[in-house]
Amino acid sequence: MSLDAVLAHIDEDLDNAVERLFDLLRIPSISTDPAYKAECQSAADWLVKDLESLGVAAEARPTPGHPMVIGHVGEGSPHLMFYGHYDVQPVDPLNLWNREPFDPAIEETPNGKVIRARGACDDKGQLMTFVEAFRAWRAVHGEWPCKITFIFEGEEESGSPSLVPFLEANKDELSQPDMAMICDTGMFDRDTPAITTMLRGLLGEELTIKAADKDLHSGFFGGAAQNPIRVLSKIIASLHDDDGRITVPGFYDGVPELSEAQKAQWDNLGFDATGFLAQVDLSEPAGETGRSVLEMVWSRPTCEANGITGGYTGDGFKTVLPAEASAKISFRLVGSQDPMAIRENFRKMVRDALPADCTVDFADHSASPAAVMSIDDPIFEDARQALTDEWPREAAFIGCGGSIPIAGDFQEILGLPSMLIGFGLDDDALHSPNEKYDLRSFRKGIRSWARVLDAVTRKS
Ligand code: BES
Ligand code: ZN
Repeated sequence: MSLDAVLAHIDEDLDNAVERLFDLLRIPSISTDPAYKAECQSAADWLVKDLESLGVAAEARPTPGHPMVIGHVGEGSPHLMFYGHYDVQPVDPLNLWNREPFDPAIEETPNGKVIRARGACDDKGQLMTFVEAFRAWRAVHGEWPCKITFIFEGEEESGSPSLVPFLEANKDELSQPDMAMICDTGMFDRDTPAITTMLRGLLGEELTIKAADKDLHSGFFGGAAQNPIRVLSKIIASLHDDDGRITVPGFYDGVPELSEAQKAQWDNLGFDATGFLAQVDLSEPAGETGRSVLEMVWSRPTCEANGITGGYTGDGFKTVLPAEASAKISFRLVGSQDPMAIRENFRKMVRDALPADCTVDFADHSASPAAVMSIDDPIFEDARQALTDEWPREAAFIGCGGSIPIAGDFQEILGLPSMLIGFGLDDDALHSPNEKYDLRSFRKGIRSWARVLDAVTRKS
């Protein structure tokens, strides 16, 4: 059977596939930091070259931010659009890394071999799983399984500012496919592959509170002068009540309760809440009272301070009353929560809490609603079966606490449904020091895509 030949080819070529991924991982394509603009371009160029080597008509198209890599190849149905992102998160704090973040290597761990580098999982390793599956398919069959469009983005980790305008400007071209396949999510656990059907939305807010016109001596003025750090911390502390509920007015408008069917399906997954927390040295869930850990991370909204600065934070000590303090706060959204309404209500709440002599400035960051995928199309069952064939346990339909705003954009702008399949694990340390991707995820991820392609093209 030819699928077996493709799978065998993947295994034979695995060392080369790892080398190719290493080449991509060596490019420090940090999208949020303007200092790495050239590196983002290099990563895009690298991908164009790799796609071209497979016979894809590919180009890195400029945007006001980082380039969008677009490629077209093959014929026949279904027409699938494959999405991944080549940008990565910043690497700080660098001192917590056990090796250079952009010097990838295979390391032995108690759970087997891992690929260690920034972007190993999110999302370069994941993106290369389908590229490698196509490479093997083409090597064995001499042709492509169906019509394929590639779209590789370079701004996912900084809120995808160019994506919507790009999709709108290239709507005719990009609305041709039947479905988008997105490889940027995780498995349910080490042995259980998954198709993600629920994603949380994301609202990013940055606020800066200012008081005196300059930094002050905290002895000279302390007591009499307003301290923006004190004002800011009080506001942040007031965002949750004692039951862990978020206090922004109207915040829970549009937050649905889980359906009985959804609840039963999730209960069936046998999620290990204690183990989930224990892997990062925690023991007590810190979310809303009365909610399960799975609800807390998949189906309930959150509000988290992601960073807070102000005053003197260097070595030693400085008795200073800072002139300003700021924080970055993100809200994960579910159901039909409206990011814009929450932005407005949050800002009003902050303004209302400001004491005399204080001002506040806000900066906008991402604002995307939650997304729920319909799994009615039989292609979902075919893909689920294909994943089950590769892994020890049956594939599951799961939720996801992270946000992939493009899934909503593909639907809204291009009319394309998305299927989210990925092979990340909870301990991959996405966005953290020492990010990794299991070699097993890489190998079986490639094999999984070959099986999915085989399953969805055999029928059509
Ligand atoms: N791959 C992640 C999303 C993700 C996280 C999927 C965890 C599955 C499990 C993606 O690259 C990401 O990090 N997205 C950002 C959103 C963005 C707008 C900054 C996120 O969720 O914080
Ligand atoms: Zn990410």
